[in-house]
Amino acid sequence: MWPRETNETKISIWDRKWGCADFDPHWRIEVLPDWFVQEVARLQIPHGARWLDVGCGDGVLTMDLAARFGPCLGVDYSAAAVEKARARAVASGHQVGFACADATRDDIAGAPFNVAHDRGCLHGLGHDDAALYAANIARHLAPDGMLLLSHRVDPQDADLVDRTESALADHFELRSANEMRFADDEDARQGWFMVFDRKV
Ligand SMILES: C[S@@+](CC[C@H](N)C(=O)[O-])C[C@H]1O[C@@H](n2cnc3c(N)ncnc32)[C@H](O)[C@@H]1O
Repeated sequence: MWPRETNETKISIWDRKWGCADFDPHWRIEVLPDWFVQEVARLQIPHGARWLDVGCGDGVLTMDLAARFGPCLGVDYSAAAVEKARARAVASGHQVGFACADATRDDIAGAPFNVAHDRGCLHGLGHDDAALYAANIARHLAPDGMLLLSHRVDPQDADLVDRTESALADHFELRSANEMRFADDEDARQGWFMVFDRKV
């Protein structure tokens, strides 16, 4: 039997990836897609709302979120990712904060946030961790806060939206789910963009 992948193992795998100067995965994008910007406009999220970018990686999208929509804190449990994100922000003159935190359990300074954005973080969590994630993110959101989830589809994911809805159900209510293209390249797998409202 393969050893169970612990949280520490997962963190060290991400640390190794983000610590590598030429890490450039196929899913990475540098700019928020037009469809996302249009969705935010459709949701009428006021400028100045406080954003939390969950699983921010090297922070390139956190900085884009902050530049377009208002204050945004990026969090990631990989210290290497946070270090890279902070260095990027300094190099580009962006005033964006980053913190090292596990989205499934840690306190995140700066709450309450109005919007949590997640592109590709929940995707890597199992069902139990997804439920912990829901509880932890919900408690950092304002009562009318929302979670914007961009989720890549794997081949086995025919029931992705139902599965996600049920994993988050104790703390979030699904408002909408729309198919989208997850990354820019031709081979990029499709994904779902889901909007959840925090339950109070
Ligand atoms: C697929 S990458 C996406 C990075 C970024 N959001 C983007 O779209 O470029 C997923 C990120 O989530 C982070 N992550 C995974 N599980 C996490 C957790 N429980 N808490 C915080 N970060 C987590 C990983 O370290 C990784 O940086």
